[in-house]
Amino acid sequence: MAVPGAFVSSILLLLASAAVAEIQFSEIRSDDRPIIPLDDFGFTHRGWLELNVSGIALSKAGLELGNLGFFLCTRDSWLNVLKELEEEDITCALQSSHVKHVFTFEKLGQRTSFDVEFDQEDANQYTLIFANCLQQQLRVSMDVRSAMYNLDGKSGRRDYLSAGKTILPRVYYLFSLIYFVLAGLWVYVLYKKRLTVFKIHFFMLAVLIMKGLNLLCEAEDKSYIKRTGSAHGWDVLFYIFSFLKGITLFTLIVLIGTGWSFLKPYLQDKEKKVLMIVIPLQVVANIAQVVVDETGPYGQDWVTWKQVFLLVDVVCCCAVLFPIVWSIKNLREAARTDGKAAVNLMKLTLFRQYYIVVICYIYFTRVVVYALETITSYKYLWTSVVAAELATLAFYAFTGYKFRPEAHNPYFAIDDEEEEAAAEALKLEDEFEL
Ligand SMILES: *[C@@H]1O[C@H](CO)[C@@H](O)[C@H](O)[C@H]1NC(C)=O
Repeated sequence: MAVPGAFVSSILLLLASAAVAEIQFSEIRSDDRPIIPLDDFGFTHRGWLELNVSGIALSKAGLELGNLGFFLCTRDSWLNVLKELEEEDITCALQSSHVKHVFTFEKLGQRTSFDVEFDQEDANQYTLIFANCLQQQLRVSMDVRSAMYNLDGKSGRRDYLSAGKTILPRVYYLFSLIYFVLAGLWVYVLYKKRLTVFKIHFFMLAVLIMKGLNLLCEAEDKSYIKRTGSAHGWDVLFYIFSFLKGITLFTLIVLIGTGWSFLKPYLQDKEKKVLMIVIPLQVVANIAQVVVDETGPYGQDWVTWKQVFLLVDVVCCCAVLFPIVWSIKNLREAARTDGKAAVNLMKLTLFRQYYIVVICYIYFTRVVVYALETITSYKYLWTSVVAAELATLAFYAFTGYKFRPEAHNPYFAIDDEEEEAAAEALKLEDEFEL
């Protein structure tokens, strides 16, 4: 038994917290990996696994095939299996009493395909794994179709979404509805305040609509998967709107950060450069996201693409902060020279707040949500989705409220006293750098 191989797979197994819940097709070709994890699923106590394997070809005949087969295993019991392997109580994961055998190849006989249905009554998150304990001598090829589902309590219908994700379609529908209502509200505000509307306000409307459509597609995607086990093309629409949403959102943050259209009508060269970095990176991030989602956590290049995605995402998040910092600097300079301290202090405060809110938003949706996803039980995986969506909603609401078109520009209604106080405050400001 090659322990290092098993060790690497087990790390992968622990890393992959996302439960992919679709009918999965895996092509295994001349593979001698000792452990091949295939799919994760959160079962209720009425869970089923349907496994159809065809085109089985082994590189050698006449071997003892009891050490070759599929089993289900929870994360905790996998740690026990590893311990047993290390202490040499067993030589193959299939021999452990902690795993649930689905099919071992000694039952295969002369056939090259088999179908099994496996009744899974212990509610938990399981991983479907193929073990090949003869890997030194044996390469395996086969096509695996695995479908895992729970039977619905009342109707008895199949539900292909993992136990913690089964309410996700409803969550996404609800949030998309909220965004469409917000978009309607925004149109109303734009109409009411049409004399003070800037171009950026129409851009904000586009961002809202993209977000709403993105969520609607995700809801459709998940609800099709829930009912039938596959997305029926909604995933393609979802990726398209994810992409548009990503680009428009990051562009909006950059544009607001630069003060484009409400502070100044043009972009400086360095600000354009930020956009030219962020937009192509968003393209890369979206490609990575598609690959990550479509291959599932046990795909061959999953880890690489996940890393590409994380890296690009971090770069984008950092890049969008620069224009805000530049604006804050410019405003501070301007306050010193043009004598309108109060006006500039207000703008400065606004940009400061925006800077902090952008950082909080990025931190929350990237770090806190990931942590939440890792520590919550498989039954409550939806909570991290709700947390991320609430944070995003709060961010959109803040941005819309703070940068809304205003009929009475407060910048002009300021008396001398306030002006002096602001000038004082600005002097103090200088002592604290950002
Ligand atoms: C897979 O196996 C199950 C259970 O034996 C069977 O009912 C089903 O029709 C098979 N599906 C395919 C696509 O072969």
